[in-house]
Amino acid sequence: MTGKKRILSGNRPTGKLHWGHYFGALTNWVRLQDEYDCFYFVADLHALTTGYEHTDVIAPSVADMLKDWLAVGLDPKKSVIFIQSWVPEHSELHLLLSMITPLGWLERVPSFKDMQQQLADRDLNMYGFLGYPLLQAADIVMYLADFVPVGEDQLSHLEFARELVRRFHFITKREVFVEPQPMLTEAARVPGIDGRKMSKSFGNAIFIADDDETIRQKMMQTITDPARKRRQDPGNPDVCNIFAYHKLFSSKEQVAWVDRECRHAGIGCVECKKICIENALAFWRPIREKRAQWDGREKELLAIAREGSQRAREVAVKTMTSVREIMGLVYE
Ligand code: TRP
Ligand code: SF4
Repeated sequence: MTGKKRILSGNRPTGKLHWGHYFGALTNWVRLQDEYDCFYFVADLHALTTGYEHTDVIAPSVADMLKDWLAVGLDPKKSVIFIQSWVPEHSELHLLLSMITPLGWLERVPSFKDMQQQLADRDLNMYGFLGYPLLQAADIVMYLADFVPVGEDQLSHLEFARELVRRFHFITKREVFVEPQPMLTEAARVPGIDGRKMSKSFGNAIFIADDDETIRQKMMQTITDPARKRRQDPGNPDVCNIFAYHKLFSSKEQVAWVDRECRHAGIGCVECKKICIENALAFWRPIREKRAQWDGREKELLAIAREGSQRAREVAVKTMTSVREIMGLVYE
């Protein structure tokens, strides 16, 4: 074995990924590939917990997400890239762990009520949805992951997984699992073009797959400092979404220059946007070209995920052999 610490993370296939996904998680996942033994997976079963009525969007979303991942540099030679439902052991571990999971623990996970409120248009009074954190715990402990790179919003799920590991060990008097640690890395705040958090559901997202013209249009619409009404008004970059984008795409010198010039009206927003747009286009072009190479080659794309899923499965099968034995399910 490699002696490297193991990392696992996943994402629900909900469509094309956007800049928020990239700067919030993916760059980090890419960086981690050299130092850690990384497992990254498409959480298609989790997509069903909220999207069980619209299952036709799952398959195209899986392909889109895999394309985005490979385009930004997730590398199947370095990492195990797989699809959750192609490793059926996830479902089995979810079921076996459900035997020792107190209902109250699930009901108390804050995302349960939060999401039900956020997605009020869907009926989420389902067992599968309640069990979301349990399935996530199964995903993580299956691979004995040391670290799980996630955003703040997932911390309660990580805590749930840790508590469940302790309970499993306590009840069974056997130590099979590893208590996973969250890995919080400082992520850039990526506002959407309207200034709210970038999110597909807000309609304010710029996607990794967007072409030059779309990026240009969306950035031209992006809200700047709302207090800067006229060209001669000084601006405040700290509240400007374009400035947030400058920090992602422009050189340090440019960022410092924009910061200075904006504050004494030395630069206008249109000029400032144009500079930012050019830098953004240059940043995304190679990634988009890499992504486009997969269009029409979905079979090959899925073959990569198939191979990754087989590698993941080797680990999963080992874990399940122990778990079945520990839980009294061995008869010969
Ligand atoms: N809940 C995660 C999200 O919404 C996705 C996920 C499922 C996950 N299983 C996981 C993340 C295991 C990390 C580890 O982003
Ligand atoms: Fe934003 Fe640039 Fe306009 Fe300043 S000049 S408000 S940083 S777009």
